[in-house]
Amino acid sequence: MSIQAKSLARHVPKASLADEIAQALRRQTVSFHALPLSFGGSLRGSALKGAYQEILGTQWRGDLTVGAPYVDSFFFPKGSIAHAEARAASVFGADATLFLTAGTTLANQIAVESLASNGTRVLIDKATHQSIHFSLDRLRARVDYIESRLLCLDSERTSFALIDVLSKVEAAEKEGDPYRLLILNGQSYDGVIYNISTILRALSEFAPSLRNIIVDEAWGSWSYLDHELRQSTAIYAARLPDLAGRYNIIATQSAHKSLSALRQGSLIHAVGDGGLGALVRAARYKHHTTSPNFAILASLDLACAQAETEGVRLVERAIRLASELRDRIAHDPLLDAYFVNETPSVEGLFQIDPSKISLNVSALTISPAEIRDVLYREFDIYINRTTVTSLLLNFHIGINEDDLDRLSEALRAIQKRYQTLPDRKRYATGFVIPYPPGVPLMVPGDEIRPSTLRRLHALQASGINLFTMDPSEPLPR
Ligand SMILES: Cc1ncc(COP(=O)(O)O)c(C=O)c1O
Repeated sequence: MSIQAKSLARHVPKASLADEIAQALRRQTVSFHALPLSFGGSLRGSALKGAYQEILGTQWRGDLTVGAPYVDSFFFPKGSIAHAEARAASVFGADATLFLTAGTTLANQIAVESLASNGTRVLIDKATHQSIHFSLDRLRARVDYIESRLLCLDSERTSFALIDVLSKVEAAEKEGDPYRLLILNGQSYDGVIYNISTILRALSEFAPSLRNIIVDEAWGSWSYLDHELRQSTAIYAARLPDLAGRYNIIATQSAHKSLSALRQGSLIHAVGDGGLGALVRAARYKHHTTSPNFAILASLDLACAQAETEGVRLVERAIRLASELRDRIAHDPLLDAYFVNETPSVEGLFQIDPSKISLNVSALTISPAEIRDVLYREFDIYINRTTVTSLLLNFHIGINEDDLDRLSEALRAIQKRYQTLPDRKRYATGFVIPYPPGVPLMVPGDEIRPSTLRRLHALQASGINLFTMDPSEPLPR
């Protein structure tokens, strides 16, 4: 071992739960309980063994069916799981953090069950995940919705207006039937990050009876590792001197979406009065599978260890790489058919996630869905979300410089292949004049170039008045 490798080995962060699970796996215990698949037992001589190994590897790593007292109890932890959850709580600043191996779909059900019951009056951002809507429906809570407004047609980003929330809670207080629970979506997949402390501060004034808040931060674990973004999060808000002690706050997070956790690894954080942690624990006991997945639990422990020790650096890199792509799009002539949809933030209420780029591809002769397909089939690049004009690129902590280069190369190749052909040039049929200053961006007969379109989209995003001779004529896209 080199000196450098030795010194690195000394600094491997502690993950006591992951250690305990690794030790239990090393024993290769024969189970007379369940899980015939453990260590390939049921596959000895099977024609399917190779197919299993292709996916699970030869060591059958991670799957274990041993319970307390040989590994810590998931529901009543006293040892390694208790330590791991306590460390996670300290990384995120929560009073209590619970691990889950069934996704934030379940975490949301547990959060709702902890703070609502039959007849509870609940105000909820309509743009929250289905798991919250279904839970409230099942509990027969009395639900009112906060509607979202479209911020940008291309990225399809939406947000609610704070005034809509405040007028609803104020009216409910006046009726003498105040909301008892507010449920927010802290961060959208498209990249709208609400500032939770701004919202809670305003609510303290307009909704004196409101105490219970759930914030779905499914996409947001990583933002606790960035100095600026952390200040928008639910648990940060809960700790502010003027808000501390005022609310019971539960935040749910899909650690698997933004940290190095296996799929379905999720976290529930709670900050509030003394009983809140016990309420969440009881709800988890009722709803969680009694067969928690040990590989997922170990990955949650390791993901929190990584967040604590390496997270800041990884998040910095993700944001830097996203910004590097913006630069390439702005300056590389081989990428000049693309542009980034800039959605203006509303100061104090929300900002746009710097790691999520909405890339407008409308100047190409191929649709976003078709580009997604070319990226996957030809370049081994996967993106998930497309709109009518754009693709969403999420720079998470697993993306590195090579991945950025691969994406850039793919986008260059796609531009070359699908750029608007000379005989498909488009020309303006009327005036398009931003006011102020009243100087035409296009006059009739002008060629509509990608660069002109870029300016047009930026102007639209800035909210400036755009004059057209014939208002029934749609603006060029
Ligand atoms: C906002 C939001 N909440 C909850 C979930 C569900 O999370 P999970 O996939 O971990 O069950 C999702 C999934 O995409 C989501 O976007």
